[in-house]
Amino acid sequence: MNIRKNILTTVIGTALFIGLSASSIAATTLKLSHNHNRDHAVHKAMTAMATEVKAETKGEVIIRIYPDAQLGTQRESMELLQNGALDLVKSNAAELEAFSSDYSAFNLPYLFRDKQHFYNVQEGAVGEDILEASRSSGFIGLTYYDAGARSFYAGKPINSPEDLKGLKVRVQPSPSAINMVTALGGNPTPLAYGELYTALQQGVVDAAENNIPSFSLSGHAEVSKFMTLDEHTMVPDVLVISTKAFDAMTPENQKIVKQAALHSSQLMKTLWAESETKERTKAEKMGVTFINPDKTPFMEAVQPIYQQLTPEITALVERIKAVK
Ligand code: GCU
Repeated sequence: MNIRKNILTTVIGTALFIGLSASSIAATTLKLSHNHNRDHAVHKAMTAMATEVKAETKGEVIIRIYPDAQLGTQRESMELLQNGALDLVKSNAAELEAFSSDYSAFNLPYLFRDKQHFYNVQEGAVGEDILEASRSSGFIGLTYYDAGARSFYAGKPINSPEDLKGLKVRVQPSPSAINMVTALGGNPTPLAYGELYTALQQGVVDAAENNIPSFSLSGHAEVSKFMTLDEHTMVPDVLVISTKAFDAMTPENQKIVKQAALHSSQLMKTLWAESETKERTKAEKMGVTFINPDKTPFMEAVQPIYQQLTPEITALVERIKAVK
């Protein structure tokens, strides 16, 4: 009898122990919000990151991704992150500049010489410094994602800045984007990404600007039949995490999350290139004309912006330009 009781106690004790450790180990679920759909390359890259984090932390850290702005626009998601209601947000440098001014350096027109320069900046010391600079605002950046070059699109061809005169151009809620469109002669209209399809369709705005995959996957290509590849900016997407969520993890798990984010950003380079080709072909099949304009008048028109920067951003621009 006593032996049976002992065995029973041991069995129950072991079960309780396993149960308790399992529940304390699988405790962390991090909520990630972003505004693209599941077909977008960035969603696929972040899904790969979530898979890696789950495997490497042996289920201790789970990343649950909420696409399509289900949990709010980029701005709202950042506010939720700062309040502790969200842990991770994939936004982009344009909207992050309202939360950490250093990001505005990435939003300057014709700053990057080419794609390799863009990658070298992000993967080097300047990129890392900018990701870290927002700690006092309750978040840090984990990684950048390629988001190509942004160009104008509208219902009519835009061959030069002259053609933007008098047009209401949707921009992201970002002072840099507003300044750029103003310098080019258009009337900037800040709107959240999710509001743009209807705004274009109903003529609330005449034009917008984005990279090719976002233009196509958001359905904007249905309503704007001309895209001018003036490639004015290369604004990276950025994945940020709240310091509350990051600091609550063990150093090992922090390392795993950071590594997985970096791996997903490398994966994104391939996914992005594939997506650009695929979405351009899709848009062409839908009747979109891509225009290759002379970029010189666009470049000249935006130069005054560089004279109006704060000393801090000018210093960052100098560092970016010095990167090989
Ligand atoms: C890109 C970017 C998004 C951003 C969008 C926009 O698609 O990836 O993060 O919200 O541009 O123009 O608002």
